Amino acid sequence: MSLKNNDYSAHAISKIILSGEHAVVHGSPAIALPVFDCCAYTQISQINYKGLLINAPQISEKFIIHEYKSICNPLELTVLSFLKKFDLDIPSIEINIKSDIPIASGMGSGAAISTSIIRCLCKYYNFNLSSEEIYDFVFEIEKIYHGNPSGIDPRVIVFESPFYFIKNKLIESISISINAKFDIIIIDSKIRSTTKEVVEWVGEQKNIYPQKYNQLFSDISEISNNLKIELNGDNIKNIGYLMTLNHRLLKEVGVSNSTLDEIVDLALECGSLGAKLSGAGKGGIVLALSEPDNTKNIIKNLTEKNLDNIIFTKFR
Ligand code: PMV
Repeated sequence: MSLKNNDYSAHAISKIILSGEHAVVHGSPAIALPVFDCCAYTQISQINYKGLLINAPQISEKFIIHEYKSICNPLELTVLSFLKKFDLDIPSIEINIKSDIPIASGMGSGAAISTSIIRCLCKYYNFNLSSEEIYDFVFEIEKIYHGNPSGIDPRVIVFESPFYFIKNKLIESISISINAKFDIIIIDSKIRSTTKEVVEWVGEQKNIYPQKYNQLFSDISEISNNLKIELNGDNIKNIGYLMTLNHRLLKEVGVSNSTLDEIVDLALECGSLGAKLSGAGKGGIVLALSEPDNTKNIIKNLTEKNLDNIIFTKFR
């Protein structure tokens, strides 16, 4: 997007979940990391037209807003909620949205797009919203489109920090430091899945089989608690072990599928120290842990096995 005078721009990063997805919706801790190289971008330009244009060419979406309305898509909703909150008239602007983040893949694309729109509107109106206020805003939008979200996506995306996160427990949810040196290779299964549907399905299963799911979530809690300690140390093998263990438990939760399992197995065969699905599952991405010196080699091995859909290769 080229920026003219009087144009405003903002971006937001994406995220990956290292452990605890789904369990986090039901009160267990999870650990998520920011991904700085895969972002959503918003640009606002003033236009000589009475109305507000929203342009998101990648998802073939184009909207023209002339007045407040209640039924709208997530992009319109984000913009209108912002205008409503501050009691603003519909401005004559064009909002262009672009994103490198694959949609419905577990990288928090929705939260990142909302965050970049809100940040850009803040610049346009010269408002100084705190990260906490932006978080609350994005979380409210997530609640409308994701049903029962834990809030982990906006937490990492807005604060741009690794988080040990517990739903509704702000004091126990903390930004964590990472001493271990590792890379994460992100492999996109190219299967899209809807977080809301998968989260609802897991909720239903938990109602039917409470004992099984409580045990699984308790085992996953232990993994997140151990990972928090390991990330501060230097034993990458332990981190990898915990990730693969988390994948096995997610399989029992019922959110993996044969493609994701196959990618996990290939990643391990190719030299990764641990691998797991990340995000809602039933599609989306797989994370493969590697020692920084071995990352290139693993990517080469994966590519030779026809896995060329590696969308991002380094975690720092
Ligand atoms: O939006 P996703 O696919 O990255 O999933 C987020 C993780 C879940 O635990 C499945 C849902 C949530 O709100 O925490």
